[in-house]
Amino acid sequence: MELQKRLSDFQSSALSSLESVSDLKRLEEWRVTTLGKKSELSTILKSLGELSDELKRELGEAANNTKNTLMTAYETALASFKTKVAVEEALDITLPGTAPQLGKTHVISSIIQECCEIFRDMGFVVAEGNEVETPYYSFDALNIPPDHPARDTMDTFWLEGKVKGSREFLLRPHTSPMQVRYMETHKPPIRIVVPGKVYRYEATDATHLSMFHQIEGLAIGKGVSMADLKGVLTTLIKRLFGEDRKLRFRVDYFPFVEPGAEIAINCIACAGAGCSLCKGTGWIEILGAGMVHPKVLKSGKIEGDYTGFAFGIGIERIAMLRYGVEDIRNFYHNDLRFLRQF
Ligand code: FA5
Repeated sequence: MELQKRLSDFQSSALSSLESVSDLKRLEEWRVTTLGKKSELSTILKSLGELSDELKRELGEAANNTKNTLMTAYETALASFKTKVAVEEALDITLPGTAPQLGKTHVISSIIQECCEIFRDMGFVVAEGNEVETPYYSFDALNIPPDHPARDTMDTFWLEGKVKGSREFLLRPHTSPMQVRYMETHKPPIRIVVPGKVYRYEATDATHLSMFHQIEGLAIGKGVSMADLKGVLTTLIKRLFGEDRKLRFRVDYFPFVEPGAEIAINCIACAGAGCSLCKGTGWIEILGAGMVHPKVLKSGKIEGDYTGFAFGIGIERIAMLRYGVEDIRNFYHNDLRFLRQF
């Protein structure tokens, strides 16, 4: 009778402890202590062997009943936990999805597009040149012969190897090679802008890169003058930086223009009063320009009484001024926290 009592006590305490089991992990622990090899039930079942046949039959049946009752209780609890987990983990298809992160236009590409738009409004056509160029179109045709000191101002990446004969190739150090290339294949009137990458073999710092972007401008026609150049650039700068901007033209030297000019705008930070951005001068230089040199018109086989102007704008410098970026290298560090601002 003592075994009978142990069995019924064991069953009721097991069933009551099952009620406090709250998850699948605890249920498994309950199964091991209640029905496992080292459980009290197992010990009771083993001890039945020592009893008389009659007691064995009687208690054996009671022990099996207890075992079956506990097994059924376990399986019921297991099924109910599994259903609960399935419901909790089920997908809620009514929730909004996770939006994929979209890419966006790089700030430099945006400025190029904006400038091209402004030039298109003034009747310019967008043309594209080659990044791999010949020294002829990069220098010679632009009135920069091999021993000319101006070649040193644009330290050049020369490409290894020559293609048949003695032609050499380089990465264009400015967009100006397109001037003569375009003149060779088009008759005036010409009005083009050429956006693109240019390369210079020079150390990088806060205002210099070895790869940057320029937009070249070229207009050739009858009676085209410096006043037209001034009008076009003033329109560009006012649309980019606002109506308050003033332009300053100062004489500068580029072998492919005569006269040549360096163009500055009144400082966007201090409006000309003088600050650290403009180094106290009130002006910031942004581009080079001038009237196309007669020798360049000749290289382009343009004859007759045509005149023209040309300019070359540094896009990263425009972007720096526009957004107050102090280090030009930030545009190419590919730090998304920086790039997402624009
Ligand atoms: C030229 O490249 C001439 N081809 C421009 C030109 C075209 C003059 C047609 C006259 C007629 P320059 O080397 O100054 O000129 O470069 C033009 C602009 O490119 C500069 O005003 C500056 O804004 C930008 N720039 C030049 N070097 C760098 C550099 N290392 N990193 C970033 N921007 C630069």
